[in-house]
Amino acid sequence: MILVTGGAGFIGANFVLDWLAHGDEPVLNLDLLTYAGNLENLASIENHPGHRFVRLDICERDTVLGLLREHRPRAIVHFAAESHVDRSIHGPAAFIRTNIEGSFSLLEAAREHWGALPEAEKAAFRFLHVSTDEVYGSLGPADPAFAETTPYQPNSPYSASKAASDHLVRAWHHTYGLPTLTTNCSNNYGPLQFPEKLIPLMIGNALAGKPLPVYGDGLNVRDWLYVGDHCAAIRRVLQAGRPGETYNIGGNQEMTNIAVVRELCRLLDELRPDPAGPRSRLITHVRDRPGHDRRYAIDARKIAGELGWQPAETFASGLRRTVAWYLDNPGWVERITSGRYTEWISRNYGAR
Ligand code: NAD
Ligand code: DAU
Repeated sequence: MILVTGGAGFIGANFVLDWLAHGDEPVLNLDLLTYAGNLENLASIENHPGHRFVRLDICERDTVLGLLREHRPRAIVHFAAESHVDRSIHGPAAFIRTNIEGSFSLLEAAREHWGALPEAEKAAFRFLHVSTDEVYGSLGPADPAFAETTPYQPNSPYSASKAASDHLVRAWHHTYGLPTLTTNCSNNYGPLQFPEKLIPLMIGNALAGKPLPVYGDGLNVRDWLYVGDHCAAIRRVLQAGRPGETYNIGGNQEMTNIAVVRELCRLLDELRPDPAGPRSRLITHVRDRPGHDRRYAIDARKIAGELGWQPAETFASGLRRTVAWYLDNPGWVERITSGRYTEWISRNYGAR
């Protein structure tokens, strides 16, 4: 079996569902269920014999170690994190705790467990750390895309905490020989993404006839990858990645934020016309995110060349699937937009 952390969040839940759809190897899913974790994401596998969910903080090292000893997973796939840049600006402490201390605690539990395994199991064991392209910092318009050798220059509390965790993973391989793999991926989008992130936030606001808050001039560039393609890349790295290596994962789909929002408006107008007029009328430029990285781009030649992974979706096909999913699942959004989420919206957007 494999152990997944953060498997009730956006990418983790997509990964667990994808994993069970692609084979019969069981998953032990550890998640604290913070505001971003949602058991409803896993409702379709509630009674699946290959899925066991445990509500747990990754900082609980002894309990994690006990579970590792009990279940003897052959791999850990580590998604659990605080993941939203804007929240890291308003309150960095949770990011330091989960992303740095939590990853440290998980690495230590993994090291202790792994060190006591018989040689064959020890050699086959993998610790796959899911990280982000944001650790590399911000690119100018003509700069080459981020490669695995690009120096780290994290700019937000979120990316600094993820960079710190990447360094811990690197050191645990170099010093202790733990067979680690690190993936650095660009912006994901797709079903089950919490509506604080750009694409689901804009879909929700557009459907509700609310303003679409574009930060600054809207010309910041992100590389977009459909979440199913990220899951496939992680499966491939787990299967054939070389221990100690890092792999950049991206969609080769650089877009400005304003272009993303305009495309969303166009799709929504096509699929769910608004009698009040085109959704682009709702686009509103608001005060920029402090320290806002201007451009991310991923050079994904290593994973393509070594492991043969390529994204299956284009931005156009992935966005259409995503919009269709949100249109088909309004109840999912309604149920998570609780009082605490409403507080977040007024805190982040109230003063902009
Ligand atoms: P998310 O915020 O949707 O989900 C995070 C999950 O981690 C939630 O289920 C939450 O309950 C859980 N969690 C948080 N703190 C925990 C703790 N202390 N113990 C156990 N569980 C805890 O995040 P996501 O967007 O699915 O991102 C998953 C991972 O992928 C993160 O490590 C993130 O840095 C990385 N990543 C995300 C993107 C993206 O575009 N979303 C891109 C590249 C990398
Ligand atoms: O690059 C990978 C990263 O992508 C992941 O590591 C993070 O976990 C994930 O949250 C994401 O970070 P971003 O900051 O790029 O994503 P976000 O959806 O918050 O914002 C995308 C862009 O859109 C960014 O340039 C800020 C802008 N934005 C965002 C929001 C929420 C707006 O213009 N308005 C908004 O309301």
